[in-house]
Amino acid sequence: MEIKELIQKMTLHQKIGQLTQYNARVFLNDDSVITGPDKKLKLTDEDLATVGSVLNSFSADDMKKIQNQHLAGDPLKIPIIFMLDVIHGYRTIYPIPLGMACSFEAEITEQCARMAAAEAAASGVQVTFAPMVDYVKDARWGRVMESGGEEPLLTGYMAAAQIRGFHGDDLTGDSSIATCVKHFAAYGAAEAGRDYNMAECSERELRQFYLPAFKAAIDAGAEMVMPAFEALNGVPATINPFLHNVLRREWGFDKVVISDYNAIGELLKHGVAADEKDAALQAFSSECDMEMCSASYFHCLEELVREGAVSEEQIDRAVERVLRLKEKLGLFEDPYHGADGKKAEALYLCEKHRELAKRAATKAAVLLKNDGVLPFEENIGSVALIGPFADEHAIKGFWSCAGRDEETVTVRQGVEALLGKNKVRFARGCGYTWNDEDRSGFDEAVRIAKSADAVILCLGEPQNYSGEGNCRTDIGLPGVQEELARLVAEANPNTAAIIFNGRPLALTGLDRHISAILDMWFPGTEGGNAAAELLFGRAVPSGKLAMSFPRSSGQCPVYYNHTGTARPHWTTEAESRGYASDYIDCGNLPLYSFGHGLSYTEFEYIEMTLSADTLAEGGELTVNIRIKNAGKFAADEVVQLYMRDPVASVVRPVQQLVAFKKTGLAPGEEKTVSFTLTPESFVFYDTAGRLTHEKGKIILMTGCPDHYYYKEEIELL
Ligand code: GLC
Repeated sequence: MEIKELIQKMTLHQKIGQLTQYNARVFLNDDSVITGPDKKLKLTDEDLATVGSVLNSFSADDMKKIQNQHLAGDPLKIPIIFMLDVIHGYRTIYPIPLGMACSFEAEITEQCARMAAAEAAASGVQVTFAPMVDYVKDARWGRVMESGGEEPLLTGYMAAAQIRGFHGDDLTGDSSIATCVKHFAAYGAAEAGRDYNMAECSERELRQFYLPAFKAAIDAGAEMVMPAFEALNGVPATINPFLHNVLRREWGFDKVVISDYNAIGELLKHGVAADEKDAALQAFSSECDMEMCSASYFHCLEELVREGAVSEEQIDRAVERVLRLKEKLGLFEDPYHGADGKKAEALYLCEKHRELAKRAATKAAVLLKNDGVLPFEENIGSVALIGPFADEHAIKGFWSCAGRDEETVTVRQGVEALLGKNKVRFARGCGYTWNDEDRSGFDEAVRIAKSADAVILCLGEPQNYSGEGNCRTDIGLPGVQEELARLVAEANPNTAAIIFNGRPLALTGLDRHISAILDMWFPGTEGGNAAAELLFGRAVPSGKLAMSFPRSSGQCPVYYNHTGTARPHWTTEAESRGYASDYIDCGNLPLYSFGHGLSYTEFEYIEMTLSADTLAEGGELTVNIRIKNAGKFAADEVVQLYMRDPVASVVRPVQQLVAFKKTGLAPGEEKTVSFTLTPESFVFYDTAGRLTHEKGKIILMTGCPDHYYYKEEIELL
């Protein structure tokens, strides 16, 4: 049946039902009366019979039970659409998105999303609330773990790869799920890095940094948008007129917008809605089509239509968006979307999926420091495995969907599998919670460190210290881990540390004591095997940081694309030069910058040449960067091209990533990596919020903000 014809057959109450989404548990309870947290929703049985969407169903059987129960009672046979946060894997978990962004690689990202979609679709999921593309600068905020980091160009690139992977070639396919890009917008600007806190951003900053990745995701085909929780410039994103205008008018986005969890209900808490009816009117008028887990639309929309405050045409427009999505997914033909419990079980943790998850974990890892300690030799005599994450299964990260800690390979399991148990000694040494002061494990740790040929220190923050609602004021290693590291390194200098984290951590102390530091993020199911392969050289680190690491928590926010100030004084140590933009007690450059990441080989940047030193309107300019693998390991390098616009009508960042390419080189191999630039490569938003580029000098640099190899000037004509 044609969608518009179907809408004509629907009652107003049935239409409103299509604009609502509730937890699967509401429908799986045996008793008809809703119990627990959902009781306060005050939904009637008639409401429940018309609900159009369900979230948080975790099995094909549960999905089918709910779908069958619904269709049996729906004369129009409109299928429910099932949604879930499939963020970095369904049951086979790959690295958190901030880690995947460090791969700077679309291919592995797309493959992982494809894998997640196959497992999720088989399990009854039809839409994922991903990719999250919030621009982030403040590592205190727990949700940086699900972002693409501090560079919108990279975030948009990774988002497009995820969307391609989740969608596949055809959304009706039984290994495809639709995507919902979130959280629109500037959620990452929450003041003080505290989740859900207010954010103040100029239009210019919003357009320059916070909106581009959303546009990239929408251009890549994202099927839904989810507004953010926070109040942006005084108005919650769910009802923010500036965001509404950009999304619906400027960008012409005519698909489904779904609120975040109870975000419409929370308009009362924000103090911008007097009651549910007011909240419903404001949200619906802002074209928030679907209400997630609050009930203002059920309770108030019919009355608002009767009063003429909302027209039935507006209702029909929202309903049509929802039904079009169901149509795209083929739900009218197959309400199960191919879900099959047996197929799902066969996919979970299968060898092919584990192998991919392991490869992703090796690519997400970033070698932050290496004074020649890594890689260890496989014929090493003995290794001491020390630290609270050495034998820890909880390294899959927040938002790990149906993943299970006990199914995650620990570092100890990975290293013992690679070396043999007889070569590995283990001591936990200490705990990893922020208030754990227990040092009783230190002596044993130092003892085994002394007697081993090498030490692998496994440190970090617990996986529930990042993610939604999990923010920190002190982003150092929690507890006494740094003290343990110092003692162990004194006992055996042949020590390497691997870090498990959901955010950049302040590792200045660790950097002082330890010769090699490898950041694994939360690597997922195959974390331990990936760590072992990286530590012993079977895999070579190629990751580059997608977010800067501060020297101290007090430095937050610290990010690479900052402006230069009128009193610049960029330092790595505490060195205050009065009346300069620096700190008395700490360097103001990051400890490790965006774009930083070492390899086991040495890459020589032989030369950077330009096809011209001017670039006119409509013209092109090619930048050729010649690199060589001068070491003995085959390895990948992310060649990065940055720009600086030294004079413009607004203050511009001291550097901005313009383009990047990842390429592999064999030992001794040389390659030329080319970038083609146009005047549009140098656009920025001016004070009027207009996208522009201006005549004048542009400086091009290659390398990364920690170290540029070459700088060349061109003139935009
Ligand atoms: C959460 C998150 C959002 C998620 C939604 C559904 O509160 O903010 O990212 O998709 O609820 O779980």
